[in-house]
Amino acid sequence: MRLKGKTALITGAGSGFGAEMARRFASEGAIVICADRNAENAQAVASSIGASAHAAACDVSSSDSVKALAEKAAAVTGRIDVLVNNAGISQQPRRIAKLPEAEIDAIFAVNVKALYHAAAHILPVMVAGGGGSVINIASVTAIRPRPGMTWYNAAKAAVISITQSMAGEFAENRVRVNVIAPGVGRTPMFDAIFKDPKKADEAHDRLVETFPLGRLSKPSDIAGAALYLASDDAEFVTGIVLPVDGGRLIA
Ligand SMILES: NC(=O)c1ccc[n+]([C@@H]2O[C@H](COP(=O)([O-])OP(=O)(O)OC[C@H]3O[C@@H](n4cnc5c(N)ncnc54)[C@H](O)[C@@H]3O)[C@@H](O)[C@H]2O)c1
Repeated sequence: MRLKGKTALITGAGSGFGAEMARRFASEGAIVICADRNAENAQAVASSIGASAHAAACDVSSSDSVKALAEKAAAVTGRIDVLVNNAGISQQPRRIAKLPEAEIDAIFAVNVKALYHAAAHILPVMVAGGGGSVINIASVTAIRPRPGMTWYNAAKAAVISITQSMAGEFAENRVRVNVIAPGVGRTPMFDAIFKDPKKADEAHDRLVETFPLGRLSKPSDIAGAALYLASDDAEFVTGIVLPVDGGRLIA
């Protein structure tokens, strides 16, 4: 029970990596708040976990919505020990100047500016409770960008930079801030990028060849890394970038 006594708030917990983190954290004793823009999915994940999970509807790109989430989450146990800023959106593969401006704005609002809203509304609850662990979710594409995904890659690079700045600013408050850089995994996000299931299958098979460990990432890989960073095993770890990518960065 590595998270016994801790309350964890996970954004984007209605699907993919976030849903698995919620399940894993709860199985390790945490009270979890599953936040997602898709309220139905957040509720389904929370219900599947049971009494230790709560669902909350939240759009992480909206200051008012994140403020309401912080209040709702704080009301559950009076504290927030772990925050996973996991909610994210990707982009259609396009050359740099071919993505519509509105999509670029949305990518930055959800993946990047959400960290501003979290710092403004959720971090104060953690600080008031004496500290905790913030885990931001970036991507290996931030570190090794490839063509066609420029704006998503850049947004995730910003997540890494902001994480390191946050770690410096909040160290005196005993809030650790780290970032996980997952390698690509076949979550609903993956299939949404390719739209056509056949194209998604082809992309999957092509990508597997580029992973030294011979497969794409799974939600359980990311949940395991997040569990470590959330737990007291990582009590002296802050400001790090943890790739969870089957060796993709060294390929
Ligand atoms: N799947 C991958 O290949 C991959 C690789 C590297 C990094 N990531 C990152 O991991 C995180 C989780 O991705 P996933 O693959 O599980 O995707 P997913 O699409 O399965 O889940 C993302 C969840 O975030 C929610 N969400 C989106 N916008 C939101 C908003 N404005 N407010 C609140 N919730 C919102 C969605 O409703 C969804 O439930 C994302 O930040 C993503 O960028 C994914």
